[in-house]
This record gives sequence, C-alpha cells and structure tokens, in this order.
Amino acid sequence: MNDRVIIFDTTLRDGEQSPGASMNTAEKLRLATQMEKLGVDVLEAGFPAASEGDFDAVSSIANKIKGIEVAGLARTSKEDIDRAWEAIRAAAKPRIHTFIATSDIHMTYKLKMSRDEVIRKAVEAVRYAKSFTENVEFSAEDGSRSDRDFLCKVFEAAIESGATTVNLPDTVGYAIPQEFGSLVKYVMTHTPNISKAVLSVHCHNDLGLATANTIAAIGAGARQAEVTVNGIGERAGNTSLEEVVMALHTRPNFIPVATGIRTDQIYPTSRLVSMITGIIVQPNKAIVGANAFAHEAGIHQDGILKNPMTYEIMKPETIGLSKNKLVLGKHSGRHALREHLKDLGYDLSDEEIQLVFVKFKELADKKKNVMDEDLEVIVTEGILRTTDIFRLEYMHVTSGTTVMPMASVKLLINDRSVRGAGYGNGPIDAVYNTIAKLTDTGSELLRFSVSALTGGTDAMGEVTVRLRENGLLALGKGADPDIITASAKAYINGLNRLEYLKSHPVVATEGL
Ligand code: KIV
Ligand code: ZN
Repeated sequence: MNDRVIIFDTTLRDGEQSPGASMNTAEKLRLATQMEKLGVDVLEAGFPAASEGDFDAVSSIANKIKGIEVAGLARTSKEDIDRAWEAIRAAAKPRIHTFIATSDIHMTYKLKMSRDEVIRKAVEAVRYAKSFTENVEFSAEDGSRSDRDFLCKVFEAAIESGATTVNLPDTVGYAIPQEFGSLVKYVMTHTPNISKAVLSVHCHNDLGLATANTIAAIGAGARQAEVTVNGIGERAGNTSLEEVVMALHTRPNFIPVATGIRTDQIYPTSRLVSMITGIIVQPNKAIVGANAFAHEAGIHQDGILKNPMTYEIMKPETIGLSKNKLVLGKHSGRHALREHLKDLGYDLSDEEIQLVFVKFKELADKKKNVMDEDLEVIVTEGILRTTDIFRLEYMHVTSGTTVMPMASVKLLINDRSVRGAGYGNGPIDAVYNTIAKLTDTGSELLRFSVSALTGGTDAMGEVTVRLRENGLLALGKGADPDIITASAKAYINGLNRLEYLKSHPVVATEGL
C-alpha cells in the first residue's frame, strides 16, 4: 500500500440530518467513542451554530475524544466560525469545516451572490478560521454541478488562504462515477496549488451511486472520503463508510490505498448507529445488512461448505460479525458480562455494569440464551436513555378473543409518578391511547413496525415507531421479549425524542 485515504465520518452531522434521526448528547458521545475505536481519522461532530443541542454535543465530544480529529461545521459567516471554534477548541486536534455553494444554481437562487462574492466569502472564511487553527477544511457545496474552472478557482483561493483540505461534494447525488472521477482528475490538474491540500469528496446517494462515485474519486486522486455509518444522511443518505472501506480492503490491487479503519469494529458500529438513531438497516444492505452473509440457494450453500471462497468475497469475521453469537445465560457472572461487553465495544463504569447486570439477570430469567443483540438493547435502554423525561414504570394489559382490550400504565414524568387506564382496538392501541393521555402528546403515529431481534419464539421483539408533531419528526425504538411492552417502550422513546427536539430548536439550517 503506498497511499492512505483519510476517513472523515459525518454520521453525527450529515447522518443526523436523516429524517427523525436526532440524537441527544449522551447518545452522540457514545457513538463518538465508538467512532474513535473504529479508527476514523476525522469525526465531524456537528454544526454548532445550528442549535444549542448541537453546540453542547460538539463541545462534549471535543472534551472527551482525544485520539482523533474533531471537526465542527460552519457556514462562511464569522458568527458560525466563532461558534464552531468555541465548540471544538478543547479537542486534541480540532478542525473547522467551512462551506459555501459554488454552483450557478445555488449562487443565483439560494445565495443571490455573484461568483466574485462567493470567492471573497470563501477566502474571508478560511482566513478567519485559520486565525483559530491550522486545520481548516473548505467545502464547495454543490461542487459536482459547479462550473469546473470556477470550482478550481475557488479551491485555489481557499488553499492560498490556508485551507488544508478542500472538499468536493456531490450535494444532490447527481454525479455518475466516470464523470465524477474525471472531475476529480480535472481539479487535481487544474488547481495550481492542489499539492498543498488534501482533496476530499463527499457524495450523496440519490441515484444509489455514492459509493461508486467515492471509489472513482479515490481512483482519480482524492485522498479523503466523507462518509456515514450505514450510509445514513439527508434524503437517500451519504456514502456508506463500510462500503468504501471494504471495497478498498477487498480490492487492494485495483486501488492500492489503505485506511486506518479497524474493520472488525464495522459491524458493532453499524448496530450501535441503528440502535441509537432508530434507523433500521435494510436486510440486503451491502456489508452490514442481515442478509449480507446469508446464503439461501442450495448451490451456494453447497459451495460455501466446500470452500467459503466460492461465494464469499469477504469473511464475516473481518467486519466483526462473530460466528459464535451465543453469549451468556442466567448463571453467567458479572465478570463474564463485563468482559463480553468490552468485546462488543462497551467499556462501562462499575455503576453502569451493575445496572446492566440487574437487567441482564431479569432477561436471563425469561430467556435461556442472552445474545449480543439483547445486550446491546439493555445497554442502550439502560444507560443511554437515563436523561429521558418519560419513563415506563409499569404496565398491565388484558386482551383476548372475547374481551375489550384494556391497558393500565404507570409512567414517571420527570420523576413524578402518574397512572391511567384506557381501551383500544387491540392491546397495543389500548397502551398507546393510555400513554398518549398521560403524556398529553399532540403527536401523530406515522409508522409502526415490529420484528424479532434474534431467532426463536423467546426472542426479543424490536419495535420502531415514527412520530410527528408540529413538523418535528422522531423515531422511537424499544425491545422486549413481550412485544406489547416493546411497543410501549418504542412509543415512549419516540415521545422523549420529540421532547428533546422541542427543547433544542434548530436555529440555523439555511445554507445546508
Ligand atoms: O452535501 C453537502 O454539500 C454538505 C456540505 C456541508 C459538505 O454536506
Ligand atoms: Zn452532505
């Protein structure tokens, strides 16, 4: 390998722009810790000027994560750059990422600025950011639809002003791989000072080509890829980290470049992102989907048994998918639990282990074999949701062929206990009606789905809901061996996320 590609992860910033995917600060910190373990080079922690919540999350991450670069996004205004710097200044390696659009469509209709004005803004922003840190990235938003020579001119000016990375985004996912690769080559050969900066790419997946475009760009000389775990992000999402990394890892002869990613952390990170955001990974998703290593056809199974290389281009262990997923039972002790959680990427304090241990024992009493997925749920629900406003204390449901389904529910609302009862068309409807009454929510349930987390009839049911209130969207997730309890947990999780969004209003997204 003669070259290194910088992996810039934007799951916490662009990924969080997926509808309903908002995360609170504790969740972002947990994810950031995992990203560090995964080995990303740069972590874009958020857009500090967007909201108080974003600012808090970015500064908490900058205070805690010391092994990798932490970036904060800013438009080209001084206020945004001040806010970004304030949030990231405690990081060991802070990076200010400033951007402005460079396509004629964006400049004419959105910014209402001339080309010269845009260059001036870019230069001023980079210079200003440079007064705080050496490490400044400049992005030409909608770069793939920009005039090529103008794009090179903007990059040249940004580098001249001190940008150490210049980023070429395919903001609307419009590019085609050959075209994007040739654009990258053009930029490499027509930006006179390009050797003084790293050329980065940032692709969206509107045509399903984000990974292909990113790989084409790396082949053409780009040396930073901006990606998200599971490819989550605005609209159809961003380039998926795991796809780019595994494509490079699996085909080193084609593009001889390396990344610093610990591939065995890919699957645990993917699970964590899905658990925290509530966004389910589609089963046929490359690398991390449930079916990615499942061989259904008889001919394939036969071949795999004779030699896995017949139909498997990657080993499941390489991405951290352990073959032996059976973990603990009710006789397992605290030490075994702690060690196993460590293997899964959870380095918990004694107090947290104790909390998880109690829940684990409760589950092991109901379920013979406790699997990795079960432990992840216990950790997510038991540790990351401790700041929730609404918490389920107790619920009881009666339903059957001849009775009207009825639920009685006890909740803690900001530590105040409330209880109530209600009817419904089915047991879940009865529980939801009761919770809605107790929480006085004005939200609307847009989607409800349930699936089994693992195999077997004693598996935990995993419920995902999508809620909307006054234009705010939130996903909620809950799991439990009892699917009615899982449904209640998911609803309450969604309501907590809505409360979080209400108390952390977005103040600035213009220009994103
Ligand atoms: O898609 C985009 O253009 C962006 C920029 C802010 C880099 O997310
Ligand atoms: Zn983007």
